[in-house]
Amino acid sequence: MCVAPARRTTRERSVKCETGRVSSTYEQLALRLRQAFDALSPGADPVLRLSERGDYQANGVMALAKSLGRAPREVAADVVAHLDLEGWAEVEVAGPGFLNLTLTPARLAQQLRELGGDPRLGVEVTPAPATVVIDYSAPNVAKEMHVGHLRSTVIGDALARVFRFAGDEVIARNHVGDWGTPFGMLIEHLVDVGEDEAVASLSMGDLNTFYQAARTTFDADPAFRERSRERVVALQSGDPETRRLWRVLRDQSVAYFTEVYRKLDVTLTPEDVVGESSYNDALDTVVADLAAAGLLEESGGAWCVFPEGFTNRDGERLPLIIKKRDDGYGYAATDLAALRDRVDHLGADALFYVVGAPQAQHLEMVFAVARLAHWLPESVRCEHVVFGNVLGPDHKMLRTRSGESVRLVALIDEAVQRATDALAARAGSPEGPERATLALQIARAAVKYADLSTERSRDYVFDLDRMVSFEGDTGPYLQYAHARQRSILRRAGAQWSYDAAPFALEDPAERHLALGLLGFADATAAVRDSLQPHRLCTYLFDLAQRFTAFYEACPVLSAEGARRDERLALCDLSARTLALGLSLLGIEAPERM
Ligand code: ARG
Repeated sequence: MCVAPARRTTRERSVKCETGRVSSTYEQLALRLRQAFDALSPGADPVLRLSERGDYQANGVMALAKSLGRAPREVAADVVAHLDLEGWAEVEVAGPGFLNLTLTPARLAQQLRELGGDPRLGVEVTPAPATVVIDYSAPNVAKEMHVGHLRSTVIGDALARVFRFAGDEVIARNHVGDWGTPFGMLIEHLVDVGEDEAVASLSMGDLNTFYQAARTTFDADPAFRERSRERVVALQSGDPETRRLWRVLRDQSVAYFTEVYRKLDVTLTPEDVVGESSYNDALDTVVADLAAAGLLEESGGAWCVFPEGFTNRDGERLPLIIKKRDDGYGYAATDLAALRDRVDHLGADALFYVVGAPQAQHLEMVFAVARLAHWLPESVRCEHVVFGNVLGPDHKMLRTRSGESVRLVALIDEAVQRATDALAARAGSPEGPERATLALQIARAAVKYADLSTERSRDYVFDLDRMVSFEGDTGPYLQYAHARQRSILRRAGAQWSYDAAPFALEDPAERHLALGLLGFADATAAVRDSLQPHRLCTYLFDLAQRFTAFYEACPVLSAEGARRDERLALCDLSARTLALGLSLLGIEAPERM
C-alpha cells in the first residue's frame, strides 16, 4: 500500500483560505443577522446584500418562512424580535418580508473614520495564513506565448496579489513546458543554424519562426527526423552536450518570457519557473507508488489509472495515461509529481491551477488520481481556475489574418499604440517620455481589466477600441476616475483633515458613496473565496460610478467648512480604494492622465 506522505504540522492551520475578517460593516451585520436567523432555524442564511433602497437588505426571510411553513411577514417580525443591531443599524420590514437595514449615522461615520486611518482600507491580515501555490502562465519553451497564456498570466497574477495582500504565503509556480520529444527537433535545429544565430533570434522573441523552421525541416527531411529522435534519447539519458544545448533553449526562452512579464507588469520572476523537466527524477516514484497502491493498469501498451467517474460517450472508462510504452512519461505523470511536490515539500494548503478550459478533464483526472493515491489530503483546497477563450471580432478564436495564433507581445504593443493615440487626441495630456509611460500604464490596464472583468470561464472578444476607451467598464476609465480624484485632492492642498470631517452625509449621493467605500474588504474576500477577480472589478466599477454621481451632486472644492473636509475625505477614500483595488488586479493608478 502507498503510505501517505508525512504531513507538516502547519497543515493543521486553517486551510480553507477563509478570511478571518469579522470587522467589515457587512460582516458585522451578517453576524448579527445570522444569530437572529439561527434562533428560528439554525444555519438559515439571511442573504444579506448591499441594497439600493435601504443600505443593506436581507432577503433570507422568505426561504426561512417556507421551510418553517409560516407566513413570511410573521417570520420577519420574529427575526426582528431576535435581532440585536444595537448601535449598528435600524431595521424595517418591507414587502413580503424583506429586511431593510439602515446604518445609524454615528456608526457609518465611525466606520468611515476607521477606514480613513487604515492603509489597508479594512482588509484585515488573515489570522491563519495559508501556503497558496498558484500554477499560472506556463508557456512552452521555444514557442511563442499566445493569448491563452495571457489569460493565465493575468488571472493568476491578480489572484497572487490578492492572496499575498491578505497575508497568505503565495508560491507562484510557472510550470513551463520544457521537456518532451519536440526538444530533439529543436536542439537539432539549433545545431543546424548555429548557436549564436539561434540565441540571437530567440532572445529577440522570435520564437515562432524558430519553432516553425524546426518543424518544417522535421516534416520534410527524414535524416533530420532520425537525428531528432537520437537527440531525444541523448537528452533523456543525460548526455552533457545535449543537456547544455537544451539549457540554452530553455534559458533564452525564460529570458524572453521574463521580458514579456515585465512589459505586462506581472510579478512572476525566473525563480518561479519550475518547469516540467524539474520533476523528471520524481516520475519513477510516481509510477512505483501508483503500482504499489494497485492503481496502475496496462491498457493498449500504456500504463494508466482509471479513476472512477470518468467515461467517454459510450460509457467506457477513461484512462489517465501515466507512462506510454515508448514515449516515456506523459504530461499527467509530471502533473502528479508536481502536485506531490507542492503538497509534501512546499506544504501547500491550497493549490490553484490557472489553466484554460480545454484542460479541465485532464486536471480533474489528475486531482482524482492524486486523491486515490492519498497524495492530496481533503484539507488541501485544490481548484482548477478555469478560463474561457479570447475571441476575435468575428467571435471565433482570435487569430492573425494569416490564421496563426496571435503573439502576445503584438497585442500589448498594439494596445500601447492605441493608448498613445488616445492621449495625443486629448488636450493637456502629458507629452514626451511621460506620455510613453502613461500609454504603457493605460495599455496594461486596458488589456488586463478586459481579461479580468468578465466571469473568467466565459469567452470574451478582444476589442482594443473598447478596451482602451476612457468610458464604460474599462481599466482606463477606472484609472481616469482615480486621476480625477487625485487632481481634486492636489488642488485642495493640505487644507483639510479627516478629523474635521463630521461625516454627516446629508446628501444621498454622499451616503451612497460612503456605503460603497465600506464594501472594499468584502470585495477582496469575495475574490479569495470564489477565485473570481471580476468580483473586485465589478466592485471598483460600481464605486467609480458612485463617485461620479457624488461629484455631480456635491461640489467639493467650493464647499464650505466641515462639509468641505467631509467631501475631500470621501474623495481621498475613493482614490485610495481605487488605487489599492487596481493594484490588486495588477493595474497601476497614475496620478495624472
Ligand atoms: N504548458 C501548458 C500549455 O501551454 C500549460 C501548463 C499548465 N499547468 C499545468 N500544471 N499543467 O498548455
